[in-house]
Amino acid sequence: MNPLLAKSGAPHQSNFEKPISVVGIHHLLFTKGAFQAENKGFAEILERSDLRLPARAVVFADSQVIREWPDLEAEVRNYAEAHPDLLSILSFEAVNGGEASKNGLDSLNQVLTAINREGICRKSLVVAIGGGAVLDVVGYAAAIAHRGVPLVRFPTTTLAQGDSGVGVKNGINAFGKKNFLGTFDVPLAVINDFRFLKTLSDRDWRCGFSEAVKVGLIKDREFFETVRSKVAMITNRSLEESAPIIQKSAEIHYRHIVEGGDPFEKTFARPLDFGHWAAHKIEQMSDYQVRHGEGVAIGIALDSTYSNKIGLLPEDELKAVLDCLSNLGFGLYHPVMEQRDVLFEGIEEFRQHLGGQLAIPLLEQIGKTVTAEDIDLGRMNAAIDSLAALG
Ligand SMILES: NC(=O)c1ccc[n+]([C@@H]2O[C@H](COP(=O)([O-])OP(=O)(O)OC[C@H]3O[C@@H](n4cnc5c(N)ncnc54)[C@H](O)[C@@H]3O)[C@@H](O)[C@H]2O)c1
Ligand SMILES: [Zn+2]
Repeated sequence: MNPLLAKSGAPHQSNFEKPISVVGIHHLLFTKGAFQAENKGFAEILERSDLRLPARAVVFADSQVIREWPDLEAEVRNYAEAHPDLLSILSFEAVNGGEASKNGLDSLNQVLTAINREGICRKSLVVAIGGGAVLDVVGYAAAIAHRGVPLVRFPTTTLAQGDSGVGVKNGINAFGKKNFLGTFDVPLAVINDFRFLKTLSDRDWRCGFSEAVKVGLIKDREFFETVRSKVAMITNRSLEESAPIIQKSAEIHYRHIVEGGDPFEKTFARPLDFGHWAAHKIEQMSDYQVRHGEGVAIGIALDSTYSNKIGLLPEDELKAVLDCLSNLGFGLYHPVMEQRDVLFEGIEEFRQHLGGQLAIPLLEQIGKTVTAEDIDLGRMNAAIDSLAALG
């Protein structure tokens, strides 16, 4: 008797293998004054969506954004009143701004509670307005409620507009690890309204430019040169000169996701994570006193210095990278880095995160990466020493 057949004659196993392709549009819009009634951007996205219209929406806004933009709720409600066939606001709530929202479950529970209370379904809408942290927690709640309800993000920081808010990831921190819980999920749309950037603190304004430097270094030398040439205008907070940099950074991140062939990061190569193993660990070691953008600046400085020490990035190019970051106002070293063993756990955590095989992007030259499968801790220690010596 055929061993695959049970007594009844039924096979023990059956094997089906068919590809599944998930079709979706990742919509990214740049605008100014997104909630002014005459601005058609958001309305057109709703009109073209397959939501049940008018879209029943719960809105969550970063508490700091509400403080800086006290008319925001009225503007959002007016926008809905100006477009009654497209949008109906069921609730508008503040979510605590900053990383605290991603530590613990309070903000997640708050968002899930509202989604449940207002009967938000897969044809209605969650709107998130805020920095990367608020977008991450609201996005995670939207992704897990009913296995995913539609989300429109309005990023309000340079970092969220140029990087974190334009992607397909969300998440919260757990077990002391950054983004331990989270999903990949394509939002219905991301609307970058440059107007919001005016009220950022200098510190948060600066943060997005480390990610702009990052994408220039790994993908586009000319863009890195542009950022370098505009450092003075960036630090003087010229929105006119800086918005195109944030937009270009967003576009490079966006293209990597939609055209790079690996939107959900299934393969090992992760060039966008340049500088991030150290960034995430330093953020965590500092108890999140170090912002993501600041951690990324240190991480870029460290992995660029290491690249140089193992014979990759030439000396003059390393100097250009370090000068650009410090002229933007970033520190390139933090005292927590003295706990080398703890810092190096970040490499192991990154390995785990990648599924067991390490793939750390390094710079061969500006605009060109190579992937390292191992790190020489002796030379990494020397790289840390060099940054410590710079102060
Ligand atoms: N999902 C992703 O793909 C991804 C990628 C990179 C980073 N991230 C995450 O993004 C987070 C960092 O985002 P961030 O840099 O935007 O920091 P953030 O969200 O912590 O915001 C920084 C501060 O700015 C305030 N703020 C926000 N908008 C403001 C405005 N317009 N005016 C005044 N204040 C404003 C916030 O309340 C907060 O206090 C981190 O948690 C990081 O892990 C996510
Ligand atoms: Zn980042």
